[in-house]
Amino acid sequence: MTQSSRILGVGKYLPSRAVPNTELEQLKALETTDEWIQQRTGIKSRHYVGEESGTDMAFEASKEALANAGLSVDDIDFIIFATLSPDHYFPGNGCFLQDKLFGDRPVGALDVRNQCTGFLYSLAMADSLIKSAQYRHILVVGAEVHSRGLDFTKDGRSVTVLFGDGAGAAVVGPATDNHAGILGHAMYSQGKHADALWLEYPCNAYDFYISKEDLDAGRQYPKMNGPTVFKHATRRMVQVSKEVLNKTGKTVDDIDVVLFHQANLRINQMTASMLKIPEEKMVNTIQWTGNTTAATIPICMCEALRQGKMKENDLVLLCGFGAGFTWAASLLHW
Ligand code: ACO
Repeated sequence: MTQSSRILGVGKYLPSRAVPNTELEQLKALETTDEWIQQRTGIKSRHYVGEESGTDMAFEASKEALANAGLSVDDIDFIIFATLSPDHYFPGNGCFLQDKLFGDRPVGALDVRNQCTGFLYSLAMADSLIKSAQYRHILVVGAEVHSRGLDFTKDGRSVTVLFGDGAGAAVVGPATDNHAGILGHAMYSQGKHADALWLEYPCNAYDFYISKEDLDAGRQYPKMNGPTVFKHATRRMVQVSKEVLNKTGKTVDDIDVVLFHQANLRINQMTASMLKIPEEKMVNTIQWTGNTTAATIPICMCEALRQGKMKENDLVLLCGFGAGFTWAASLLHW
């Protein structure tokens, strides 16, 4: 019989420095207001790193996830690390986390570059590796340092106000005692929309990795066509949520908890209303985290547990949409 997998424990790390909208409002070059940000996105505050790197935050989140799973690092035999803001261009963050967590013990590590759906793609990979008995306990981590790479001028304001730093981790392992565990996944990408939300430079696609002119023009900062992303996000999140429900023989009414990616509170409210999911089944963290990209879903899981909203055996829908475009959903029993 195939071994089902489940999430055994989750952890998170948010830097101690909280940055409310009112602090961004003080930055004259950004030309934004608390009112604009709250009205359009629901965000009130986010966290920015001090001295930490993404893998420092991942280390802390992983330790918490292991403690909550009742396991130690010795039990982990593989790492999947999702991030769009790695410590270095190469090697991947998984290798740096291996060193921090395991020291001299070599452990397989895979980096996943799927932006806001990075954690969902990684969870699906972990689920498959456990089901196929390749590995037993896998650490799935998402961590992002956005604040060091944002444009704090008017040119970047529609992107800059959205993002925050943080890390989240989940220990995935075998489901025992007839626990149904992770039920299924659906994942998509459509690269024709890549330039609607991307970081074009530095790059290897053109002659210049990055030129002085590119730097002067601010091309090292993320660019986004917000309204296009918004429109696609709601449509695709509805479609992929329905697909994962169909695949697993479940209905919207069966769902106990909904954890959407946190890019914009309005996207989540619209998606939930299109799916006819009542607001009380949702857990949103964007108000105080902003968009933490690949770290978002495990941070939401921690919050759902803290609020007592997610209990043993609850049916949980996870869904996200982001740069690529990529979109994905997973359905699991907690
Ligand atoms: N403060 C003040 N004004 C601003 C700001 C700001 N931070 N940002 C934009 N504006 C202005 C614009 O310049 C524009 O002004 P104009 O009318 O004078 O030209 C006006 O506000 C409206 O701009 P829009 O971009 O049309 O605003 P919109 O209502 O679409 O909101 C937002 C922008 C919040 C970015 C929204 O489009 C959105 O959330 N999009 C989706 C984001 C998302 O889901 N990203 C995916 C995940 S991220 C990832 O995958 C890495």
